[in-house]
Amino acid sequence: MLQDKDRIFTNLYGLGEKGLAGARKRGDWDGTAGIIAKGRDWIIDEMKKSGLRGRGGAGFPTGLKWSFMPKDSGGRPHYLVVNADESEPGTCKDREIMRHDPQKLIEGCLIASFAMGAHVCYIYVRGEFIREREALQAAVDEAYAAGLLGKNAAGSGWDFDLYVHHGAGAYICGEETALLESLEGKKGMPRLKPPFPANMGLYGAPTTVNNVESIAVAPTILRRGSDWFAGLGRPNNTGTKIFSISGHVNNPCNVEEEMGIPLRELIEKHAGGVRGGWDNLLAIIPGGSSVPMIPKAVCDEILMDFDSLKAAQTGLGTAAVIVMDKSTDLIKAIARISAFYKHESCGQCTPCREGTGWMWRMMERMASGEAQVSEIDMLLDVTKRVEGHTICALGDAAAWPIQGLMRHFRHVVEERLTTHKGASTQVAAE
Ligand code: NAI
Ligand code: SF4
Repeated sequence: MLQDKDRIFTNLYGLGEKGLAGARKRGDWDGTAGIIAKGRDWIIDEMKKSGLRGRGGAGFPTGLKWSFMPKDSGGRPHYLVVNADESEPGTCKDREIMRHDPQKLIEGCLIASFAMGAHVCYIYVRGEFIREREALQAAVDEAYAAGLLGKNAAGSGWDFDLYVHHGAGAYICGEETALLESLEGKKGMPRLKPPFPANMGLYGAPTTVNNVESIAVAPTILRRGSDWFAGLGRPNNTGTKIFSISGHVNNPCNVEEEMGIPLRELIEKHAGGVRGGWDNLLAIIPGGSSVPMIPKAVCDEILMDFDSLKAAQTGLGTAAVIVMDKSTDLIKAIARISAFYKHESCGQCTPCREGTGWMWRMMERMASGEAQVSEIDMLLDVTKRVEGHTICALGDAAAWPIQGLMRHFRHVVEERLTTHKGASTQVAAE
């Protein structure tokens, strides 16, 4: 379990002193110019050594991503873009950082931008996050007034401007290239990769897109040292992580913990345990709606990190832990998730546009008990035709929850279809 001395987000619930003065007392902006004076190579090297993997869901090594930015771009500007379009169902961690610990993010933006040769950074905030955008903008204004942003930011010699951009409320704009399209004023539709943003990003210029949490932890890593961060967690899964725990627990919460904490310990220590006790647990979605669920037997032993969850045929994703007790109609729950992905598909590639509709309609037939047992294999076949055949990860994200349901609870689906129980479940797509 994480000790208080190793906690990065010491004001996650906003209980401490507010504003820049409070943030400074908690250690933010301490020696920023000194960190920058150590140079681009030192910063990127430290980030690599820390082992930090992207906290937006995919877990791509952050230092490595920063190193992809070209050293010389022939006069083209460089950009850092922070993805604050937090929309993955179950996920609400970046929201708390923007509300209560925004100076960590702002300081991280300056340091990361310097390391990548960017004089401008955009933070793209989810459309529904009105209060978060207000809190972040107020923090940015305070930082400008204190000389931490703008010309010679924080006395570092680096000129740096930071803009908060408010999205219009579309899940797909959290996909990094759709986000860039949206920032450019176009429809938020994902681009084919490669080219990756480091070569061809915002306005065709070298760009790095990072998650809020990834950027917000960078100043503390650089202050305390890569060895300290790499010493927490497990090899290849280092550091601390904010987990969002929701669903059938006694105390839903956001909590920063060490990577690799056992799932059961995470829930029992921080979320007051499963409603009705651990034995009342049915299944858990461990990383936001895009990753497959795992049954109680797997939850009993699993560690919460990228590699352990991958080995269990699921993923850490956004570390949004959605707990479902024995009262849950799992088929209906997955049908609801299918409705979500159908609604959020941008529609530009056929397997996703058509497949999400197919999967949703078939899941509805499963939930209501109207489908034939033979349709289970047909549905799984549809998921395989979508998975890996689309421009962005939304297609996979729509397919995996269904695969997880059938992998672990096929017998429950078959029973429903054989007995035609549960005919009360009409799931509406918005
Ligand atoms: P991805 O694996 O395609 O990319 C991850 C990052 O690494 C990107 O920034 C990408 O540009 C970079 N990258 C990957 N391979 C690269 C290469 N060869 N060269 C250069 N850069 C490379 O994953 P993606 O589509 O960015 O994210 C998918 C994840 O997002 C899902 O697993 C899901 O957990 C998560 N997600 C998070 C949401 C949220 O609200 N935070 C919403 C929806 C999904
Ligand atoms: Fe759009 Fe879906 Fe294709 Fe992604 S996979 S580009 S959301 S149609």
